[in-house]
Amino acid sequence: MKKVLVSRPIFPDVIERLQQYFHVDANPGEPLSADEFARRLSPCDGALVAGDAVTAKALQGAPNLKVVSNMAVGYNNFDMPAFNAQGVLGTNTPDVLNETTADFGWALMMAAARRIAESEHFLRAGKWGTWSYDAFLGSDVFGATLGVIGMGRIGQALARRARGFNMRVIYHNRSRVAPEIEAELNAQYVSKAELLKRADHVVLVLPYTPDNHHAIGAAELAAMKPTATLTNIARGGIVDDAALVEALRNKTIAAAGLDVFEGEPNFNRDFLSVPNVVLTPHIASATESTRRAMADLAADNLIAALGEGPRAGNPPNPVNPEVLKK
Ligand code: DGY
Repeated sequence: MKKVLVSRPIFPDVIERLQQYFHVDANPGEPLSADEFARRLSPCDGALVAGDAVTAKALQGAPNLKVVSNMAVGYNNFDMPAFNAQGVLGTNTPDVLNETTADFGWALMMAAARRIAESEHFLRAGKWGTWSYDAFLGSDVFGATLGVIGMGRIGQALARRARGFNMRVIYHNRSRVAPEIEAELNAQYVSKAELLKRADHVVLVLPYTPDNHHAIGAAELAAMKPTATLTNIARGGIVDDAALVEALRNKTIAAAGLDVFEGEPNFNRDFLSVPNVVLTPHIASATESTRRAMADLAADNLIAALGEGPRAGNPPNPVNPEVLKK
């Protein structure tokens, strides 16, 4: 029987499904250290992970490894050159989280614009003495300009919601999306510089790559409107978090909503003393039904890539399909 590692706790019935095909080493506890991950991966044919760093070193120590299935759409935790060099397939879980993640991006953007977390903290701290005309004045979302950086499937789902808020949508992406999608979303393609200058609410939905490390830093924040908000539901590392702390403190921009951070879960603790930022622990896809769909899809990918189940040999979501051809 083939061996698989499940690196993180997951729905028990998903483990049971994997056990129908494989000998499963399931980690029920805290995330594994890099050494422990590599040690437990070494005898395996496959693995189901959730954001764990899958490095060249870990792959080299696992000579039988055929596939690593990520329970996430982003797979910047995979060392892709090493996967390709070793002929290991990577898979991810696209689409099933689009709407849930777009909902959350919208929630963070609204919370930042309307100062919801900040005013709630004020209320909980017993500081609410009287109604005041100028208490927690925020910026409007309805009728404003939404700037989406990264117009993939989640970016499009986010932009679609803007119609109900009568917003202008501008976007920047590696390449323009199809004209019919632009027409459906009433979205205008602009340069990153123009987007930063014009948008009232900037939302980041692009995948992390070394090329876009710190794509939003001090200069980009300075280019934004002082009334603007920045929401990051993409990945830590796209924003220079230290520069963002400064920009929020200096009111270079009005507010931010962050679900992802550089070095998470060890995020920049300076954010904790900044009132105009809403902070959540990477939960944009966290609804019961979506996390279940992601887990099921990650299991489907693993089972199929290891030649089992109804899609044997044809996993639904390969990220380096060229490996399958070899
Ligand atoms: C994803 O799917 O990439 C989410 O950010 C969860 O990691």
